[in-house]
Order: sequence, then structure tokens, then C-alpha cells
Amino acid sequence: MDKFVIEGPRTLSGSLTVGGSKNTALPLMAAAVLAEGTTRVTNVPDLRDVHTLSKVIRVTGPDVTVRPDEHAIEINASTVDEPVAPYELVKKMRASFYMLGALVGRCGRARVSLPGGCAWGPRPVDLHIEGMKQFGAEIELDEGYVVAKATGGRLSGGTFRMEPSSVGATVNLLLGAVTARGGSKIENAAMEPDVVAFGEALKKMGAQIDGLGTRTIEIQGVDALTPIEVRNTPDRIEMGTFMILAAMAGEPGEPFEINNGNHEHLGQAFKDYFRGTGAETKYTDEGAVVTPPETVTPVSIRTETYPGFPTDLQAQWTVMLATADGEATVTDTIYDDRFKHVPELQRLGIDVTVDGNAATVRGGQPIKGAQVMSTDLRASVSLVMAGIVASGRTDVLRIYHLDRGYENLATKLRSAGANIERQQYDEFAEPERKA
Ligand code: EPU
Repeated sequence: MDKFVIEGPRTLSGSLTVGGSKNTALPLMAAAVLAEGTTRVTNVPDLRDVHTLSKVIRVTGPDVTVRPDEHAIEINASTVDEPVAPYELVKKMRASFYMLGALVGRCGRARVSLPGGCAWGPRPVDLHIEGMKQFGAEIELDEGYVVAKATGGRLSGGTFRMEPSSVGATVNLLLGAVTARGGSKIENAAMEPDVVAFGEALKKMGAQIDGLGTRTIEIQGVDALTPIEVRNTPDRIEMGTFMILAAMAGEPGEPFEINNGNHEHLGQAFKDYFRGTGAETKYTDEGAVVTPPETVTPVSIRTETYPGFPTDLQAQWTVMLATADGEATVTDTIYDDRFKHVPELQRLGIDVTVDGNAATVRGGQPIKGAQVMSTDLRASVSLVMAGIVASGRTDVLRIYHLDRGYENLATKLRSAGANIERQQYDEFAEPERKA
């Protein structure tokens, strides 16, 4: 297995560059399955999740060519003849469940493994399934698989109100509804920029969709979609991660550039909270320039659906609060148990406690290097950020979680002045006896 070895504390300077969005690339890849012919997606990050979905798509028939050097992916979906997403792959990545909508939309039937739980809780898919039923699919559960069939090979269309609003269910229902025989309506739909960019791509493929970026999306089914070439959006979570890192580990008073990001995708809440930390920020066409404060002002946040503060940035915010002057709270209203990073942060000396769905951080305590364990993607990047400001050596174990969503993180961070190396290690090695 691989780990990061970080020597700190280090002050970062210069710039960091944002890659393509993971959470937009995945639905764009699923969309390609709907159209006969080759769809090419560019600005695709070279990430484990992208490779996992490529494998899932290949199982169903298409040729998938990943071109990491070009950050591009080509999906030739001329043939989709095995509408199955097997457990072995779906269990590795929940977004594989997008194959339900993609395969029902393309073939009128699908057999897709249920994803199971995730590191921080059950994360159900009931809305995906109920929505599909409302749009006309017959659904059965068979040995851990969702088996969906649309009479006559196409969904009929319908209306579905989701509660709570779900990114994944909105994507899945759009995938199914764009080729339905009739019209469909999704109420309380997700407004996240990832969903909007994906919906815009579907429109470019010939889908008829109104209301993207609002809570009500209406779809009029069409007979078939055509393949396209589409550029993926920048990763808003990577951008937010780098901004938080700049505020907590950058040289106070020295501008730090975040390049290739789209600040509009951050959402207003993040920008407002971020301003409260004392980091001066100039948003540009290229991304953002963050001038770190002498000491971060503690700001309590609450995660919400877009344009609220993203849950995918709360672990990073928690670490920044450890460097702040005072106490603040991080409340997650999307996932009430997403705090697996907290016991690891405590190992570094950070004064943080969890009560229900909120973590309270009392900043200003010395942060000291230690061995810590990654539990999920965003938790692991928060540990890396803590390692950069900690004194001494921090080993972040099991970074395969991090490889799911941050491309070349160590190389990027080194270019900004971090002392971070990737090393292989034996997870099961016995500790050595110290003489
Ligand atoms: N929910 C249900 N039933 C469902 C679906 C969702 O109750 O059928 C609930 C969830 O338990 C949660 C809420 O609805 O409380 C919102 O979950 P959502 O479905 O929006 O999440 P998701 O689609 O599974 C995506 C991102 C996540 C991100 C969430 C929230 C992708 C591939 N994943 O997940 O990203 O945290 O939206 O914004 O887009 C990450 O990148 O690290 C990551 C986990």
C-alpha cells in the first residue's frame, strides 16, 4: 500500500492548479452510454474513480479509451449488449450506480448491484429506485442487484419529488428520462454545478431538458441521443480545498494563486464563510488569488445543498479551524456521521470533539506529527493538510482513498513548498522493537 510522509511545518507559496471535476466527469461518462457512437470528454482527471467507471462501462459493451496524457476519455457506445453492473466494481465506487439510469435509458433494462454502505454511513439509494419506478420502470431486487425493466424498452416518464434533494438520484433519473416515451418532472432536484454541467451535455446530445440549476427539472423524452465532444468543468472541491489550504498554510500577506478553477461553482455560502476567516480573496477568470491572514479567524459552518457550503469541504475546514484563534463548529446537515477524520486529527494533537452531526474545534493548540489513517477521500486530504502545518513527521496511511479524487496531489503540493513524499509500506508489518 502507499502512504504519504510529510515533514512539517511548511509555509506554502506560489500557486496550485485545479484539475477536471471528478463528480462531473463520472455522470458525463455515464451519459456517453446513451448515444450510439463515440463521445469524447476532455479535462478528465486521471483518478481511480474514472478508471473504475471505465471498467464498469466496458462490462456493458462499449470500448472505453482513457488517455491520461491528454486528460481525455473516449467512449464508443456503438454496442451496449450486456446491461449489467457487477458487485465487484459497484462496491468500489457508489457512482457506478449511475449505470442504472444509463442502461435503462439506452437498453430499457438493467441489472445493477446495490452499492452497500460507505465509510461514514448507509448512504441509501431508495430515491434512485423510487424515482425510476415513478418514471415507469418495473423494479425487483434479486440477490443484491436492482433489476429494472421498462415496458417496450423505454420508460414512460412521470413525476417524482425527492426528499432530500439528491445529486446522484437527479443524475440517474435524468439518464433514464431523456429517452423516455413521454415527459418527466423531477421536483426538489439537485442544483449542484456538477448536475447542471452534466444536464447541459445531455442537451448538447439532443436531450430536451428545462430547469437545470433550479429545483424543478422537466424533461421531454427523445428517440435517441447523438455522441458529442464535451469539456469537463474544473473540480470545485479541489478548488475549495486549495483555497482553504492557502488560508491556513500560506505566507500571511503573500498572494497565493489557485489556477484553472471556476469560482462560480463554489457557491455563495463558501465564499461568504471564507471571507470571514480573514483570507483576502480576489476571484478571477482563472480561479482565485488568496492572501492568507496572519491568523485565521474561526468561522462556524453548516453544510447544505448547493449553493450552500459543500459537505465535501467540511473535513478540510475542520483542519483550518485547528490553526485558528478560538473555537468554531462544523455542522454537517447532509451526512450526520461524516466525521471519521476527527479521531485521526486528535492523534495530531488537534482539540476537536464530535457531538451528533457537529464537530467543535478549539484552535491554537500545537499540532504535532503522528501516524494517521485515511478513511475516505475528503477525510484523507484533511489529514494531509494537517500534516503540512504539523511539526515533525506525519505518515498518512491508506492513501488509495485520496487517489480516488486528487490527481498528483503530492507533486502539486511539493511545487508549492510542501515536504511530502509518496512511499510504499507494508500495512501488516510488525512494529520494530526499539532498542
Ligand atoms: N439520499 C437518500 N436516498 C437516496 C439518495 C440520497 O436518502 O436515494 C440522501 C443521502 O443519504 C444524503 C443526501 O440524500 O443524506 C444527499 O446525498 P446525494 O445523493 O446528493 O449524494 P451522492 O449523489 O451519493 C454526491 C457526491 C458526493 C457528495 C454528495 C453531496 C458524486 C459521485 N458524489 O454523492 O461526493 O458528498 O453528492 O454533495 O457526485 C466526494 O466527492 O467525496 C463525495 C462523497
